Amino acid sequence: MSLLSEWIVSGTRVLDAGCGHGDEAEYWASLGADVIGVDFSQAYVDAASHRAGRQARYIWASTKESLPFADDSFDVIYTKKGPSVYREANRLTRRGGRVAGLHPDRVMAELPELLPGLFPVASEAHSLEHTLQTRLRQSGLDQIEMRPLRHIEYLQMPEDVIRYRCFGQSENVRGTVHDAWIDEITNVFQRCADVRGLRVTSDFWLITAVAD
Ligand SMILES: C[S@@+](CC[C@H](N)C(=O)[O-])C[C@H]1O[C@@H](n2cnc3c(N)ncnc32)[C@H](O)[C@@H]1O
Repeated sequence: MSLLSEWIVSGTRVLDAGCGHGDEAEYWASLGADVIGVDFSQAYVDAASHRAGRQARYIWASTKESLPFADDSFDVIYTKKGPSVYREANRLTRRGGRVAGLHPDRVMAELPELLPGLFPVASEAHSLEHTLQTRLRQSGLDQIEMRPLRHIEYLQMPEDVIRYRCFGQSENVRGTVHDAWIDEITNVFQRCADVRGLRVTSDFWLITAVAD
């Protein structure tokens, strides 16, 4: 995330709340940051730890509970998942430090319509925008900005749909989903894709704030 790169100098203390495989955390570490990644999946923590350089470490923790760090432990907090980290972001970030979040709202929005049954249809009642507004209002953070971002991409082959649908799941599950759905997905590609691929749209909310 290029926004964060602007905030990072040597020794900047960064928390990646929901670090996954550590792709972004390792990038910031390569810029000189001291990074801690937390994830509530032990498999991701293990995968990220396996590749960690000297400036990043990864631990199991869930942002739905209090995180095991003292007040003001970080200069920058980043998250790319749900909004639960805002409960503690102001406590964990030193005054004047930065908080950023990229929150997936509707991801590949066309897929539930094209492949009903493979993807859950988004509930009308669900409003990430409203949840974010509420959490941010209660966060104690300052200078809060909330911007919508739209990302359009072209899936190249039916297996890309399977990969997205089965992200983080076992090979067994992936095999079962593949066998059950590959013909129908191939049919969708034949009907709807053009030379660029199958066009899908994802919407995100980009949050930036300053700790008080
Ligand atoms: C979209 S991935 C982001 C990965 C990473 N930041 C990156 O882009 O390289 C979101 C990650 O957040 C983790 N996650 C989701 N909810 C969480 C929670 N409440 N506490 C900790 N981790 C969580 C998931 O396990 C997943 O690995």
